[in-house]
Amino acid sequence: MYLNVCLDGAIIVLACVKLRHAVYIIRGEMMETKYINLKEVNSYEKLVEAGQAVRDGKLVVFPTETVYGIGANALDEKAVLGIYEAKGRNNDNPLIVHIYNLDMLDGLVKNIGSIEKLLINKFWPGPLTIIFDKKEVIPYNVTAGLETVGIRMPSNKVAQILIENSGCPIAAPSANISGKPSGTDIADIKQELWNKVDYIIDGGMTDIGLESTVIQVIDKRIHILRPGKITAEDLREVADVIIDKHIFEKIEGNEKVKSPGMKYKHYAPNTKCILVYSENEKMLVEKVKELATYNSLIMCKNQNLDKYNVKNKLGMGNNLEEISKNIFSLLRKVDSYDVDLVIIEGVAREGLGLAIMNRLLRACEYNYVEL
Ligand code: TXA
Ligand code: MG
Repeated sequence: MYLNVCLDGAIIVLACVKLRHAVYIIRGEMMETKYINLKEVNSYEKLVEAGQAVRDGKLVVFPTETVYGIGANALDEKAVLGIYEAKGRNNDNPLIVHIYNLDMLDGLVKNIGSIEKLLINKFWPGPLTIIFDKKEVIPYNVTAGLETVGIRMPSNKVAQILIENSGCPIAAPSANISGKPSGTDIADIKQELWNKVDYIIDGGMTDIGLESTVIQVIDKRIHILRPGKITAEDLREVADVIIDKHIFEKIEGNEKVKSPGMKYKHYAPNTKCILVYSENEKMLVEKVKELATYNSLIMCKNQNLDKYNVKNKLGMGNNLEEISKNIFSLLRKVDSYDVDLVIIEGVAREGLGLAIMNRLLRACEYNYVEL
């Protein structure tokens, strides 16, 4: 009898452990994640093993200055396939390749133009992805069949050492299940990707919080395909800038886009969200108040928190840098409030504000009021 109770207990405990830490099969292999903590201690020697793992075809989540990435050897087609499986990503959405020096770039791309050279000098290492013509070594599942490839040289130390240790370029999309906000906080990443990747390297909360600016130079002009920390104003110092219209417009039907990622539902919570903006702060606050019901949540600038007399409110930060850093983890919290509507204060589309508004509009599925 006693033995039976013990055995039953053990089975229940085992079942619970299994449920909490489900093991997934990616690339035909059972996954068990190893966690490397580089949050407080800079023990970079732990990155030797992780670098080797990337070279051997494993999946490694690593921090960058923008958001976390799920990395794999960009020259290993099978490893890259694992990224798509782990994220549940559509295979027509290409990945960004991360490098740590310019020698690596020469091996991967051709026809580097004079404007691209100026951009590299000015902004690398840093949060700028440049689209180039690809060389043959890059498998087509990295570029989703395109003849171009997005490359970036991150400035985050852990990312740089990881790439250097691996000795190969690292293909890495943001660390999140497709459609969810990009991973900036390790707790969210663990919840979504535990046992779907081989390693998770914890480097603390990411600095910028929004993904890199993605650009392509066409006919001597810089087209912004995704806005980010490197702003239109920054890029204008190098050449004329065109902000792609799809950054703020919903894509209809089979409309052709310059960057496949623009097509996908992204960042959106399940709860209905509405974005409100006016350059007149008083009018903005009045409109938010008017839209708020008993069962809604307001996301606003910290300095406006006191102006709203409602139960559910979340401060986004005091300035654009703080809002950018917090926005994805805040969007992930929204559904836990169990409200009918989320009302989000917008910001001016200048500087980093362009990138923030791009992500918020998508989170609100283009449900937008401007006064
Ligand atoms: O900050 C970042 O860029 C992060 C970190 C991990 O580096 N990565 C990231 O990757 O945000 P991902 O996969 O979530 O977004 C890549 C975006 C997608 O919108 C994709 O369509 C676009 O870049 N992209 C990649 N290659 C492209 C190409 N050859 N042409 C046009 N767009 C491309
Ligand atoms: Mg992404």
